[in-house]
Amino acid sequence: MAPGRLPLLGHLPALVRNPIGFLHSLTSGPEVTTIYIGTRPMYVANTLDLVYEMLVTRVEDYRRGIIFEKAEKVLGKGLTVLEGDVHKKQRKMIQPALTQRQIAGYTQAMVEVAEARASAWQPGVPLDANEELHDLGMELFSRALFRAEFAVAATERVKKATPAFMAGIIAHSLYPAQWMEKLPIGINRRFNVARPQMESAVNDVIARYRGADVTGAEDKSILAMLMAAVESDTGQRMDDGQLRDEVVNLVVAGAEAPGTTLAWFFHEVAQHPEIEKRMVAEIDEVLGTDSLTVENLMRLEYTTMMVKETLRLHTPTWLLTRRAGRDLELGGYRIPRDGEIAFSLTTLHRHCEHYDDPTAFDPDRWRDTSTVLPKSAYMPFGVGKHRCLGEHFAVLTMLVAIAAIARRWRLVPKPGSRVKEVPVALMQAQGLAMIPIPRPAST
Ligand code: HEM
Repeated sequence: MAPGRLPLLGHLPALVRNPIGFLHSLTSGPEVTTIYIGTRPMYVANTLDLVYEMLVTRVEDYRRGIIFEKAEKVLGKGLTVLEGDVHKKQRKMIQPALTQRQIAGYTQAMVEVAEARASAWQPGVPLDANEELHDLGMELFSRALFRAEFAVAATERVKKATPAFMAGIIAHSLYPAQWMEKLPIGINRRFNVARPQMESAVNDVIARYRGADVTGAEDKSILAMLMAAVESDTGQRMDDGQLRDEVVNLVVAGAEAPGTTLAWFFHEVAQHPEIEKRMVAEIDEVLGTDSLTVENLMRLEYTTMMVKETLRLHTPTWLLTRRAGRDLELGGYRIPRDGEIAFSLTTLHRHCEHYDDPTAFDPDRWRDTSTVLPKSAYMPFGVGKHRCLGEHFAVLTMLVAIAAIARRWRLVPKPGSRVKEVPVALMQAQGLAMIPIPRPAST
């Protein structure tokens, strides 16, 4: 058991006070540590190899766990909470909307959004870069999800609801008792309001799509693809309830993470002038003054390595869970049936024996592809049957934003600003105040 357990509260105060510090401290102990959320035990897996075992090699022994159970309240019967055959079927229906080929169709619209937003910045006027990039990520996501004329109104509503939604899910997972979900405190209130807000925003867009009689053939948005998707056994399409759940699931799973990662990306760029120089040289050389396309963005090799390294060092999903499907052993530890297991990809990627100097930001560690890392060493997008469906989309979104910004601006830290890791639903770069300085080529 982890040290510092308090009567009734267990390890909760330590986890709430400094979640990443606390989870990190466990990595120097045994491979599995018991902590207590109030009086409720939770087993923390402290190596990526054990996580890989749960997600891949012994996946049949595990179910999704408490975070997903709490998320069900808002995610309904959507992909991210489903299990077994239903999950497999639903995943097969959604996957085609997010293939590399399909996402190429969303690029043009996303480029327009990113360029408009980056062009609106004022030279020398500080930005809350965490908020700005988070917002930009949400807008890019929303623009790919909904067709243009519906995207603006829907984005505002979805943007408002999503953070409260996600923060509520994590908080409810960590409450020591279920009755706490009913307490009239801010996080619960915001969560309760966010739920109908999100549902009605998505219902409205679906109704407008139905009214406009849009199909995948005429419209390249993700929602149009989902409306056109057919279940292979039955030949049936999703009804409006299922469509709404799937859209909400995609928003919750994917709308925040690319923007959150972008904030950390620009934070690291500002800390490493040599890396920034190489990135800018590559962007100038590969893109020149050409319009941004999937083809030229995919040729940004060094910048893509920087994204990869950002996702390793600042993995946005800092807490995930699984639940033991039976009495079992994990890393030699006995976990009872229904035991909750937590893991933090953020801390584990920083504490991985497979990397030299794992806390350093070093994009070049991804250069030598002959260095074969075990599959467990890098999994910011998860792995196995629940592996992220939005991986290609997320990377493309980030490259669009990075290119649109870096062609115009250098983002330098505002003097005196201090960045702090704040794990809300995802790992936020709080306090990231940056000043946009025009690049010579763009003036
Ligand atoms: C930087 C961006 C992102 C990161 C780091 C990320 C990370 C993850 C991780 C770790 C999982 C697995 C969770 C688990 O096993 O418990 C996951 C699942 C998922 N992600 Fe992402 N994600 C990102 C962006 C996106 C985007 C943009 C979308 C949608 C367009 C998306 C859609 C999904 C879906 C649908 C699942 C559930 C898949 C299933 O259960 O079959 N993600 N993601």
